[in-house]
Amino acid sequence: MVPRRLCLAPLRGVTGLTFRRCFARHFGGIDGAVAPFLTTLAGARIKPTHLTDILPERNAELPVVPQVLGKSPAELRTLLLAIRGLGYTRCDLNAGCPWPFVVKKGRGAGLLRDSELLSSMLETGCEIMPEGFSLKVRLGIDTPGLLLERMETINRFPLAEVAIHPRTARQMYGGTVDLGSFGACLAACRHPVAYSGDIRTPADLRRLEARFPAVRSWMLGRGVVADPFLPRLLADGGTPRDPAQLRLFLEDFLEQSRAELSGPGALLGRLKELWGYLHTLCAGGERLWKDIRTCRRPEEYERAVAAWFQDQPVFVAPADGIVEP
Ligand SMILES: Cc1cc2nc3c(=O)[nH]c(=O)nc-3n(C[C@H](O)[C@H](O)[C@H](O)COP(=O)(O)O)c2cc1C
Repeated sequence: MVPRRLCLAPLRGVTGLTFRRCFARHFGGIDGAVAPFLTTLAGARIKPTHLTDILPERNAELPVVPQVLGKSPAELRTLLLAIRGLGYTRCDLNAGCPWPFVVKKGRGAGLLRDSELLSSMLETGCEIMPEGFSLKVRLGIDTPGLLLERMETINRFPLAEVAIHPRTARQMYGGTVDLGSFGACLAACRHPVAYSGDIRTPADLRRLEARFPAVRSWMLGRGVVADPFLPRLLADGGTPRDPAQLRLFLEDFLEQSRAELSGPGALLGRLKELWGYLHTLCAGGERLWKDIRTCRRPEEYERAVAAWFQDQPVFVAPADGIVEP
Protein backbone atom coordinates (compact mmCIF):
# COMPACT_ATOMS: atom_id res chain seq x y z
CA MET A 1 0.00 0.00 0.00
CA VAL A 2 1.24 3.52 -0.84
CA PRO A 3 2.04 5.29 2.47
CA ARG A 4 0.07 8.35 3.53
CA ARG A 5 1.65 11.64 2.49
CA LEU A 6 1.09 14.93 4.31
CA CYS A 7 1.76 18.08 2.32
CA LEU A 8 1.74 21.74 3.35
CA ALA A 9 -0.83 23.53 1.16
CA PRO A 10 0.12 26.78 -0.55
CA LEU A 11 -1.25 29.83 1.28
CA ARG A 12 -0.08 32.99 -0.42
CA GLY A 13 1.10 35.55 2.14
CA VAL A 14 1.34 32.88 4.86
CA THR A 15 3.27 29.73 3.88
CA GLY A 16 6.11 31.48 2.08
CA LEU A 17 9.76 30.49 2.33
CA THR A 18 10.35 31.74 5.88
CA PHE A 19 7.29 30.00 7.30
CA ARG A 20 8.23 26.76 5.54
CA ARG A 21 11.83 26.85 6.80
CA CYS A 22 10.92 27.68 10.39
CA PHE A 23 8.11 25.15 10.36
CA ALA A 24 10.44 22.39 9.15
CA ARG A 25 13.03 23.27 11.80
CA HIS A 26 10.72 23.44 14.80
CA PHE A 27 7.73 21.19 14.02
CA GLY A 28 8.11 18.94 10.98
CA GLY A 29 5.86 15.95 10.34
CA ILE A 30 5.21 17.15 6.80
CA ASP A 31 6.57 15.35 3.74
CA GLY A 32 6.69 18.35 1.44
CA ALA A 33 5.02 21.61 0.43
CA VAL A 34 3.49 23.27 -2.58
CA ALA A 35 4.73 26.86 -2.66
CA PRO A 36 2.24 29.73 -3.04
CA PHE A 37 1.75 30.64 -6.70
CA LEU A 38 4.15 32.64 -8.85
CA THR A 39 2.37 34.55 -11.60
CA THR A 40 3.39 34.13 -15.24
CA LEU A 41 4.79 37.31 -16.74
CA ALA A 42 4.83 38.95 -20.16
CA GLY A 43 8.25 39.04 -21.84
CA ALA A 44 10.99 36.58 -22.53
CA ARG A 45 12.94 36.98 -19.28
CA ILE A 46 12.08 36.16 -15.69
CA LYS A 47 13.86 38.36 -13.15
CA PRO A 48 15.70 36.29 -10.53
CA THR A 49 13.82 38.13 -7.73
CA HIS A 50 10.55 36.61 -9.04
CA LEU A 51 11.90 33.20 -8.02
CA THR A 52 13.27 34.04 -4.55
CA ASP A 53 10.62 32.00 -2.72
CA ILE A 54 11.63 28.79 -4.47
CA LEU A 55 15.43 29.09 -4.63
CA PRO A 56 16.57 25.49 -4.06
CA GLU A 57 19.43 26.37 -1.71
CA ARG A 58 16.95 28.11 0.62
CA ASN A 59 14.39 25.31 0.41
CA ALA A 60 16.66 22.49 1.52
CA GLU A 61 14.77 21.94 4.80
CA LEU A 62 11.45 21.01 3.20
CA PRO A 63 11.03 19.67 -0.35
CA VAL A 64 8.90 22.13 -2.32
CA VAL A 65 6.91 22.00 -5.53
CA PRO A 66 6.63 25.44 -7.17
CA GLN A 67 3.19 26.57 -8.31
CA VAL A 68 2.32 28.89 -11.20
CA LEU A 69 -0.76 30.98 -11.96
CA GLY A 70 -1.51 32.25 -15.45
CA LYS A 71 -3.51 31.79 -18.62
CA SER A 72 -1.00 32.20 -21.44
CA PRO A 73 0.73 29.01 -22.62
CA ALA A 74 3.64 31.12 -23.97
CA GLU A 75 4.13 32.87 -20.63
CA LEU A 76 3.75 29.56 -18.83
CA ARG A 77 6.50 28.09 -20.98
CA THR A 78 8.87 30.97 -20.12
CA LEU A 79 8.23 30.66 -16.38
CA LEU A 80 8.47 26.86 -16.36
CA LEU A 81 11.78 26.99 -18.22
CA ALA A 82 13.12 29.40 -15.59
CA ILE A 83 11.89 27.09 -12.81
CA ARG A 84 13.41 24.11 -14.59
CA GLY A 85 16.62 26.11 -14.85
CA LEU A 86 16.75 26.13 -11.03
CA GLY A 87 16.74 22.33 -11.11
CA TYR A 88 13.06 21.56 -10.49
CA THR A 89 11.43 18.65 -12.30
CA ARG A 90 8.01 19.19 -10.68
CA CYS A 91 5.63 22.10 -10.94
CA ASP A 92 1.96 22.73 -10.22
CA LEU A 93 -0.64 24.78 -12.11
CA ASN A 94 -3.15 26.79 -10.09
CA ALA A 95 -6.68 26.32 -11.42
CA GLY A 96 -8.32 27.05 -8.09
CA CYS A 97 -7.62 30.65 -7.03
CA PRO A 98 -11.11 32.03 -6.28
CA TRP A 99 -10.55 35.79 -6.17
CA PRO A 100 -13.09 37.44 -8.53
CA PHE A 101 -10.47 39.65 -10.26
CA VAL A 102 -8.38 36.52 -10.98
CA VAL A 103 -11.31 34.34 -12.08
CA LYS A 104 -12.77 37.10 -14.29
CA LYS A 105 -9.50 37.27 -16.21
CA GLY A 106 -9.63 33.51 -16.83
CA ARG A 107 -6.82 32.67 -14.40
CA GLY A 108 -6.97 30.44 -11.33
CA ALA A 109 -10.40 28.80 -11.09
CA GLY A 110 -11.28 30.81 -14.23
CA LEU A 111 -9.13 28.36 -16.24
CA LEU A 112 -11.82 25.72 -15.68
CA ARG A 113 -14.24 27.74 -17.79
CA ASP A 114 -12.30 27.25 -21.03
CA SER A 115 -11.46 23.62 -21.79
CA GLU A 116 -9.32 24.48 -24.83
CA LEU A 117 -7.18 26.90 -22.89
CA LEU A 118 -6.92 24.48 -19.97
CA SER A 119 -5.83 21.83 -22.43
CA SER A 120 -3.12 24.11 -23.94
CA MET A 121 -1.82 24.98 -20.47
CA LEU A 122 -1.63 21.32 -19.47
CA GLU A 123 0.04 20.41 -22.74
CA THR A 124 2.72 23.07 -22.22
CA GLY A 125 3.21 22.05 -18.60
CA CYS A 126 3.58 18.35 -19.39
CA GLU A 127 5.97 19.13 -22.24
CA ILE A 128 8.33 21.17 -20.06
CA MET A 129 7.93 19.18 -16.82
CA PRO A 130 7.41 15.65 -18.18
CA GLU A 131 8.49 14.09 -14.88
CA GLY A 132 5.86 15.79 -12.79
CA PHE A 133 3.35 18.42 -13.80
CA SER A 134 0.35 18.66 -11.50
CA LEU A 135 -2.86 20.63 -11.13
CA LYS A 136 -4.63 22.19 -8.14
CA VAL A 137 -8.32 22.81 -8.66
CA ARG A 138 -11.68 23.68 -7.15
CA LEU A 139 -15.01 21.99 -7.92
CA GLY A 140 -16.17 24.82 -10.15
CA ILE A 141 -16.81 28.53 -10.28
CA ASP A 142 -20.48 29.12 -9.35
CA THR A 143 -21.66 25.52 -9.10
CA PRO A 144 -19.75 22.31 -8.30
CA GLY A 145 -20.23 20.40 -11.60
CA LEU A 146 -17.57 22.13 -13.71
CA LEU A 147 -14.52 20.16 -12.57
CA LEU A 148 -16.34 16.89 -13.29
CA GLU A 149 -17.06 18.17 -16.82
CA ARG A 150 -13.38 19.04 -17.28
CA MET A 151 -12.15 15.65 -16.08
CA GLU A 152 -12.12 14.31 -19.64
CA THR A 153 -9.64 17.06 -20.59
CA ILE A 154 -7.60 16.58 -17.42
CA ASN A 155 -7.43 12.81 -17.95
CA ARG A 156 -5.82 13.25 -21.39
CA PHE A 157 -2.52 14.46 -19.90
CA PRO A 158 0.10 12.50 -17.93
CA LEU A 159 -0.26 14.49 -14.70
CA ALA A 160 1.61 13.58 -11.52
CA GLU A 161 -1.31 14.62 -9.29
CA VAL A 162 -4.57 16.53 -9.16
CA ALA A 163 -5.18 18.29 -5.83
CA ILE A 164 -8.84 19.09 -5.25
CA HIS A 165 -10.15 21.70 -2.83
CA PRO A 166 -13.82 20.72 -2.72
CA ARG A 167 -15.39 24.16 -2.76
CA THR A 168 -16.54 26.37 -5.63
CA ALA A 169 -14.78 29.68 -6.30
CA ARG A 170 -17.95 31.48 -5.26
CA GLN A 171 -17.66 29.90 -1.80
CA MET A 172 -14.15 31.36 -1.42
CA TYR A 173 -13.05 29.74 1.88
CA GLY A 174 -16.42 29.74 3.65
CA GLY A 175 -19.25 27.26 3.99
CA THR A 176 -18.56 23.55 4.10
CA VAL A 177 -16.51 21.34 1.80
CA ASP A 178 -18.61 19.28 -0.65
CA LEU A 179 -17.43 15.73 -0.07
CA GLY A 180 -20.04 14.19 -2.36
CA SER A 181 -18.74 16.18 -5.33
CA PHE A 182 -15.15 15.41 -4.29
CA GLY A 183 -16.00 11.69 -4.38
CA ALA A 184 -17.49 12.01 -7.86
CA CYS A 185 -14.36 13.79 -9.16
CA LEU A 186 -12.11 11.25 -7.43
CA ALA A 187 -13.94 8.40 -9.16
CA ALA A 188 -13.66 10.14 -12.54
CA CYS A 189 -9.99 11.13 -12.27
CA ARG A 190 -7.36 8.76 -13.60
CA HIS A 191 -4.49 10.56 -11.83
CA PRO A 192 -3.44 10.31 -8.17
CA VAL A 193 -5.73 12.71 -6.30
CA ALA A 194 -4.74 14.84 -3.29
CA TYR A 195 -7.38 16.21 -0.93
CA SER A 196 -7.21 19.81 0.35
CA GLY A 197 -9.70 21.43 2.71
CA ASP A 198 -10.61 21.91 6.38
CA ILE A 199 -8.37 19.24 7.95
CA ARG A 200 -7.90 20.58 11.48
CA THR A 201 -7.81 17.53 13.74
CA PRO A 202 -6.81 13.85 13.73
CA ALA A 203 -10.56 13.01 13.70
CA ASP A 204 -10.93 14.97 10.43
CA LEU A 205 -8.23 12.95 8.73
CA ARG A 206 -9.64 9.67 10.13
CA ARG A 207 -13.08 10.49 8.69
CA LEU A 208 -11.68 11.43 5.31
CA GLU A 209 -9.41 8.40 5.08
CA ALA A 210 -12.32 6.11 5.95
CA ARG A 211 -14.52 7.67 3.27
CA PHE A 212 -11.83 8.00 0.55
CA PRO A 213 -9.37 5.11 0.96
CA ALA A 214 -8.02 5.71 -2.57
CA VAL A 215 -6.55 9.08 -1.49
CA ARG A 216 -2.98 8.86 -0.16
CA SER A 217 -1.99 12.53 -0.27
CA TRP A 218 -3.48 15.04 2.16
CA MET A 219 -2.86 18.79 2.09
CA LEU A 220 -2.88 20.78 5.31
CA GLY A 221 -3.38 24.53 5.01
CA ARG A 222 -5.10 26.78 7.53
CA GLY A 223 -5.25 23.87 9.98
CA VAL A 224 -1.48 23.70 10.24
CA VAL A 225 -1.00 27.47 10.51
CA ALA A 226 -3.62 27.56 13.29
CA ASP A 227 -2.02 24.53 14.98
CA PRO A 228 1.58 23.83 13.89
CA PHE A 229 1.56 20.73 16.12
CA LEU A 230 -1.07 19.14 13.85
CA PRO A 231 1.16 17.08 11.51
CA ARG A 232 2.88 15.33 14.43
CA LEU A 233 -0.49 14.73 16.09
CA LEU A 234 -1.67 13.16 12.84
CA ALA A 235 1.42 10.97 12.73
CA ASP A 236 1.50 9.63 16.30
CA GLY A 237 -1.63 10.96 17.99
CA GLY A 238 -0.37 11.47 21.50
CA THR A 239 2.39 14.09 21.62
CA PRO A 240 1.35 16.92 23.98
CA ARG A 241 1.70 20.43 22.55
CA ASP A 242 4.71 22.17 24.11
CA PRO A 243 4.60 25.98 24.55
CA ALA A 244 8.44 26.14 24.54
CA GLN A 245 8.49 24.62 21.07
CA LEU A 246 6.02 27.20 19.75
CA ARG A 247 8.03 29.97 21.37
CA LEU A 248 11.24 28.89 19.62
CA PHE A 249 9.40 28.72 16.31
CA LEU A 250 8.00 32.22 16.79
CA GLU A 251 11.40 33.67 17.74
CA ASP A 252 13.01 32.12 14.68
CA PHE A 253 10.14 33.29 12.44
CA LEU A 254 10.46 36.84 13.80
CA GLU A 255 14.24 36.98 13.37
CA GLN A 256 14.21 35.48 9.87
CA SER A 257 11.39 37.79 8.80
CA ARG A 258 13.14 40.83 10.26
CA ALA A 259 16.29 40.00 8.30
CA GLU A 260 14.36 39.42 5.10
CA LEU A 261 11.79 42.25 5.03
CA SER A 262 12.47 45.94 4.90
CA GLY A 263 10.66 48.02 7.47
CA PRO A 264 8.39 47.42 10.45
CA GLY A 265 5.20 47.69 8.37
CA ALA A 266 6.04 44.68 6.21
CA LEU A 267 7.24 42.75 9.26
CA LEU A 268 4.07 43.40 11.25
CA GLY A 269 1.96 42.60 8.17
CA ARG A 270 3.53 39.16 7.97
CA LEU A 271 3.21 38.49 11.70
CA LYS A 272 -0.45 39.50 11.63
CA GLU A 273 -1.14 37.08 8.74
CA LEU A 274 0.27 34.26 10.87
CA TRP A 275 -1.51 35.25 14.06
CA GLY A 276 -4.84 35.66 12.28
CA TYR A 277 -4.86 31.84 12.35
CA LEU A 278 -2.56 30.99 15.26
CA HIS A 279 -4.42 32.94 17.96
CA THR A 280 -7.23 30.38 17.88
CA LEU A 281 -4.86 27.83 19.46
CA CYS A 282 -4.16 30.05 22.46
CA ALA A 283 -6.27 30.30 25.61
CA GLY A 284 -7.29 33.97 25.79
CA GLY A 285 -6.51 34.11 22.07
CA GLU A 286 -9.13 36.75 21.18
CA ARG A 287 -7.52 39.21 23.59
CA LEU A 288 -4.03 38.36 22.34
CA TRP A 289 -5.18 38.71 18.73
CA LYS A 290 -6.63 42.15 19.48
CA ASP A 291 -3.30 43.22 21.01
CA ILE A 292 -1.35 41.89 18.02
CA ARG A 293 -3.78 43.22 15.39
CA THR A 294 -3.61 46.73 16.76
CA CYS A 295 0.13 46.99 17.44
CA ARG A 296 2.08 49.47 15.34
CA ARG A 297 5.65 48.62 16.28
CA PRO A 298 7.48 45.29 16.46
CA GLU A 299 8.35 45.93 20.13
CA GLU A 300 4.64 46.07 20.99
CA TYR A 301 4.19 42.77 19.17
CA GLU A 302 7.03 41.17 21.12
CA ARG A 303 5.58 42.43 24.41
CA ALA A 304 2.11 41.03 23.64
CA VAL A 305 3.46 37.60 22.72
CA ALA A 306 5.88 37.48 25.68
CA ALA A 307 3.00 38.35 28.05
CA TRP A 308 0.93 35.43 26.75
CA PHE A 309 3.78 32.99 27.26
CA GLN A 310 4.36 34.35 30.74
CA ASP A 311 0.73 34.49 31.90
CA GLN A 312 -1.16 31.62 30.36
CA PRO A 313 0.65 29.46 27.83
CA VAL A 314 -2.26 27.05 27.54
CA PHE A 315 -3.58 25.66 24.29
CA VAL A 316 -7.16 25.14 23.20
CA ALA A 317 -7.69 22.01 21.09
CA PRO A 318 -9.06 23.03 17.67
CA ALA A 319 -12.59 22.00 16.68
CA ASP A 320 -13.05 19.48 13.88
CA GLY A 321 -13.22 20.98 10.41
CA ILE A 322 -14.99 18.09 8.69
CA VAL A 323 -18.61 17.72 9.73
CA GLU A 324 -20.35 14.90 7.90
CA PRO A 325 -23.92 15.69 6.76
C1 LIG B 1 -4.74 33.02 2.50
C2 LIG B 1 -4.82 31.88 1.53
C3 LIG B 1 -3.93 31.84 0.46
C4 LIG B 1 -3.99 30.77 -0.46
N1 LIG B 1 -3.07 30.74 -1.50
C5 LIG B 1 -3.12 29.69 -2.37
C6 LIG B 1 -2.15 29.58 -3.43
O1 LIG B 1 -1.22 30.39 -3.58
N2 LIG B 1 -2.26 28.52 -4.28
C7 LIG B 1 -3.25 27.56 -4.13
O2 LIG B 1 -3.32 26.61 -4.93
N3 LIG B 1 -4.14 27.62 -3.13
C8 LIG B 1 -4.09 28.65 -2.25
N4 LIG B 1 -4.97 28.67 -1.20
C9 LIG B 1 -5.87 27.50 -0.98
C10 LIG B 1 -5.21 26.48 -0.03
O3 LIG B 1 -4.06 25.91 -0.61
C11 LIG B 1 -6.18 25.35 0.35
O4 LIG B 1 -6.55 24.61 -0.79
C12 LIG B 1 -7.45 25.88 1.02
O5 LIG B 1 -7.13 26.86 1.99
C13 LIG B 1 -8.23 24.75 1.71
O6 LIG B 1 -7.43 24.02 2.59
P1 LIG B 1 -7.32 24.35 4.19
O7 LIG B 1 -8.73 24.35 4.72
O8 LIG B 1 -6.49 23.20 4.69
O9 LIG B 1 -6.68 25.68 4.32
C14 LIG B 1 -4.94 29.73 -0.30
C15 LIG B 1 -5.82 29.77 0.80
C16 LIG B 1 -5.77 30.83 1.70
C17 LIG B 1 -6.74 30.82 2.88
